[in-house]
Amino acid sequence: MRDLYIRRMSLPEPLPKESYLNRLPVVKHLSECGIDFHKQVTFFVGENGSGKSTLIEALAISQGFNPEGGTKNFCFSTEDSHSELCNYLRVARGILHPRDGFFLRAESFYNVASNIDQLDREPGPGGYIIENYGGVSLHRQSHGESFLALVEKRFGGHGLYILDEPEAALSPRGIIRLMQNMDELVRKDSQFIISTHSPMLLTFPDAEIYQIQEDGIVSLPFRETNHYRTTVRFLQNPESAIEDILGRTEE
Ligand SMILES: Nc1ncnc2c1ncn2[C@@H]1O[C@H](COP(=O)(O)OP(=O)(O)OP(=O)(O)O)[C@@H](O)[C@H]1O
Ligand SMILES: [Mg+2]
Repeated sequence: MRDLYIRRMSLPEPLPKESYLNRLPVVKHLSECGIDFHKQVTFFVGENGSGKSTLIEALAISQGFNPEGGTKNFCFSTEDSHSELCNYLRVARGILHPRDGFFLRAESFYNVASNIDQLDREPGPGGYIIENYGGVSLHRQSHGESFLALVEKRFGGHGLYILDEPEAALSPRGIIRLMQNMDELVRKDSQFIISTHSPMLLTFPDAEIYQIQEDGIVSLPFRETNHYRTTVRFLQNPESAIEDILGRTEE
């Protein structure tokens, strides 16, 4: 892939003074330095509440995706909960436009599934939408099955895929399947921008990892991220780690 669809995000103008967004380190970093994209796969990691969803949701909305998720054709809304960050964001795009795209929010994937079922009650000239997702209502599959159906059947390549915690529904084997599909889609000129807590996912080759922390955003190899280090330290000796955490000592 010669160019990326999304190359840079920045905040050229200040947000309203009273906005809670000003307290988020990710927003401070955006206004001071901006965020550059260098790789076809970019991960954002950080503690709960660090601002990952806020950031990628604003990016998705700025690119014309529905705030609750889906392709650019979805326009349902069950709850207007997105922040105003999208109104202030400046996004530098590459020369090529993506031919495919999807914004996945773990929290509202259920509503995407409902919307497909609802639209398919009165199919348009293009036929049933669910055919693009493997043909089985996403509500008649488990959370993980429906998510994998989405990635395996619906994602076609040459796409911009913005995913918020895609691992939420997946078993470790499911995460491996996701990475196999991502590999294929990356070869077909796709760009992924992903918020994640999964140390497994972070090992994806040739990805850039941005860790959001109190003092801003740093780019790190996966072995140096807090998520990977904490998980490895725990799993190297789980019995002693859990005893330490729960404050139990041998009697
Ligand atoms: N309307 C709001 N008013 C005030 N604070 C808010 C509002 N909406 C979100 N926040 C705060 O913004 C912060 C960032 O939330 P966000 O959902 O982006 O975090 P996150 O990094 O995605 O966390 P997680 O890993 O738990 O998904 C949180 O501390 C949240 O409480
Ligand atoms: Mg989140």
